[in-house]
Order: sequence, then structure tokens, then C-alpha cells
Amino acid sequence: MKSISVKSNAEIKKMRTAGKLVAEVLDMIENYILHDITTEELNEICHNYIIQKQKSIPACLGYNGYPKSICTSVNDVVCHGIPNIKQKLKEGDIINIDVAIIHNGYYSDTSKMFILGSPSILSKRLCHVAKESLYLALHLIKPNLPLYKIGQEIEKYVKKQNFSVVREYCGHGIGKNFHEDPQILHCDNQDQGIILKPGMTFTIEPMINAGSNQVRCMKDGWTVKTKDRSLSAQYEHTILVTKNGCEILTLQEKENISAVLYN
Ligand code: MF3
Ligand code: CO
Ligand code: CO
Repeated sequence: MKSISVKSNAEIKKMRTAGKLVAEVLDMIENYILHDITTEELNEICHNYIIQKQKSIPACLGYNGYPKSICTSVNDVVCHGIPNIKQKLKEGDIINIDVAIIHNGYYSDTSKMFILGSPSILSKRLCHVAKESLYLALHLIKPNLPLYKIGQEIEKYVKKQNFSVVREYCGHGIGKNFHEDPQILHCDNQDQGIILKPGMTFTIEPMINAGSNQVRCMKDGWTVKTKDRSLSAQYEHTILVTKNGCEILTLQEKENISAVLYN
């Protein structure tokens, strides 16, 4: 039996604070997503902001030996792209920036896509579908929802759009630990008997490919790319299951969805 923690009100308060802070990192970094900036520069800006301004800890740095403070996944990179001094952003690139922090003992984790300049129709649609696949899941979350429905509904929608869902990486419970039970699958999956309860906190972070869902990990041990080199996009939020829906703990100021959803 999996041990899924239900957070107390005091814990929820801390997770709200951590969520607000990590969302602010994405808000902040948007102004720096410009032609010719390197992914290493983006890493340094986020790293310094998290430590100096937010008095927080970048959760990715040193996590299982990961060498940087954020993940920067460009174009055909699905996830865990490592910031690099030699990698400059160029016109039309799509980049996912994934940031996680620890504040006052609690983790929060969020990511979004940025597009450089004028995107192709395909890039724009892929990023849109990735975001919508996360949002549709957020509109499902409520107590007594069987967990497997999240993945089922995400995959149904994505397939209709002729894109594919990566199976190897999933969302996760989060709180005092970066990755807790349960795993949140984003594809059609078996009912494990897990039912959502108020006070659960977890991430949803679907990775959507323009081509096949097959991926491979590079020799650096981290960077995951699409096997067919097609584009990939991802959005991630940390959420709390409430009495009658969910609360998005990592909502950004300019985001077009309410923080509190009644489902
Ligand atoms: N932030 C990623 C997630 O969504 C985890 C990255 S682990 C790292 O779960 F080590 F690559 F940073
Ligand atoms: Co995550
Ligand atoms: Co993340």
C-alpha cells in the first residue's frame, strides 16, 4: 500500500508560500528569454534570485547529482535539459523552464514553455495543447476522483490533437519531499485504487510530443530527447486537492485560470 500524505493546515500554508515563490521565478525569468542568451545565464539568474531574493533553496541543484538549479529543455528535449554555457537561444526555439524550490522545509515545483520570436504554427499549437492538457486535468481534480482518470483524460485529449504523451515520466506527490507518492501518470493507465482526498498535494506535468511518444536519455545521464527528434512541450503545476476541487499553488500572476477551482 502506498503512503500518500494528507497535509495539515499548517503545512498547506507553507506550501502556498513556497508555491507563490516558485511561480515568481517563472514570472521573473520571462524578461530574460531573449535571442542569444545562454541557458547557463538563465540558470544563474534563477539560482541567484532563489537564493538571494527568495531566501530559498533551488531543489534541483544536487538532486540525485543533477548539476544545475533549473532544467532548460529546448525544442526536441523532453525534460531535464542541463543549462549550458554553449547553448544560445535562437529565433523560433521553444524552451521549457522547470524550477523547483525548498522554502521553510517545503518543496514546490512548476514549469512552463517560452517561445523565442515568431513561432511556427506547429510549435505554437504544441505548446497550446500541452498547456490545455494540464488545464483540463486541473478542471477534473476533486475528492473521490480515481487518480487514473487524470492520465486517461489527458491522453484522450492529446491523441485527438494528433500529438503523443510521454509515458516514462510522471507527476508526483510533493511536500516535505521533492518526489512523494503517488505517481501521477499522464497517459491511459490501470486503476490502482487510489482515490483523491482533500489535503493531498501533487504535481501534474504532462510532456507532449509532436511526433511519437518514444524518448531516449542522452549520455550525460539527464537530457531526455524525443527519439524521432520531434518537438516536445511541457507545463507543470503543484496543486492541492480541496473540499470541492483544487487550488493551484504555483499559479503565475498573468495566468488565465483561477487559483481556486470548484470542480
Ligand atoms: N522538476 C522536475 C520535476 O518536475 C525534476 C527535475 S529533477 C532534476 O519533477 F534533478 F533534473 F532537477
Ligand atoms: Co515535478
Ligand atoms: Co518540475
